[in-house]
Amino acid sequence: MREALEILTLAPREWPALFRVPRLWKVEALFGAFYLLRLPSWDIWLQTRHLSRPKEDFRFGETPYSAGLEILQEARVGPHDVFYDLGAGKGKMTFLATLATGCRAVGLEMLASYPLISRRIVRALRLEGRAEFQHADFLKADLGEATVLYAAASSWSQSTRELLLERVAGLTPGTRWISVGWECRHPALELVSARRLLFSWGRDHAWFYRVRSLEGPHLTIAEDLESPTSPADGVADQG
Ligand SMILES: C[S@@+](CC[C@H](N)C(=O)[O-])C[C@H]1O[C@@H](n2cnc3c(N)ncnc32)[C@H](O)[C@@H]1O
Repeated sequence: MREALEILTLAPREWPALFRVPRLWKVEALFGAFYLLRLPSWDIWLQTRHLSRPKEDFRFGETPYSAGLEILQEARVGPHDVFYDLGAGKGKMTFLATLATGCRAVGLEMLASYPLISRRIVRALRLEGRAEFQHADFLKADLGEATVLYAAASSWSQSTRELLLERVAGLTPGTRWISVGWECRHPALELVSARRLLFSWGRDHAWFYRVRSLEGPHLTIAEDLESPTSPADGVADQG
């Protein structure tokens, strides 16, 4: 009940971010114009009906600006970072990252209409070189230049998560990895912190990791999942 009320009152919670972050209100105004006559569920159905991917990977959901700002702060994203949003959707988190921190931000999205519209917003706001949107599958795209990767993964299927986790675990040590609604267990990922925040689908955890180098033999995910302890067991819920 309380959570439902929180979701209903999400819009006014966004106002401080819209006033604080330069030009974010323009992004929001352009979203309003471009998406005025589009119905997300219909759009998603049209674009996924021929895909041989689990349907739950494509559920609509967004990271509100209020939660996004806390996430960027917690992950210490700054002007020298390259921020990747895996499954960028409309691109809210990608635009927020570059406008709030000065980093270069890249959104990867498999549904073509989203990056198409996001690129129009990039041109309208002259954000070329700072925000980039690719119509791409994050299970295949090159992730190597990212210093911080973000995934709002609450609804994603287990098979997608497992494939992505192996890719993330193989990134350069020191790379930061933020997953929402998905506590990752992998020996190459060191849990740094966790926050419970409000998203468009309700309260959920954002988990903050750092990729570490593995010396000696390392466990496969299956072996690691069998181990009784989780790297997150020691982290207090800060939400
Ligand atoms: C819950 S939305 C998150 C949107 C955005 N990241 C945010 O936080 O506001 C997840 C997005 O992941 C996209 N997606 C799912 N699988 C993907 C894949 N393999 N490659 C690229 N995008 C994918 C979906 O189309 C969807 O738009």
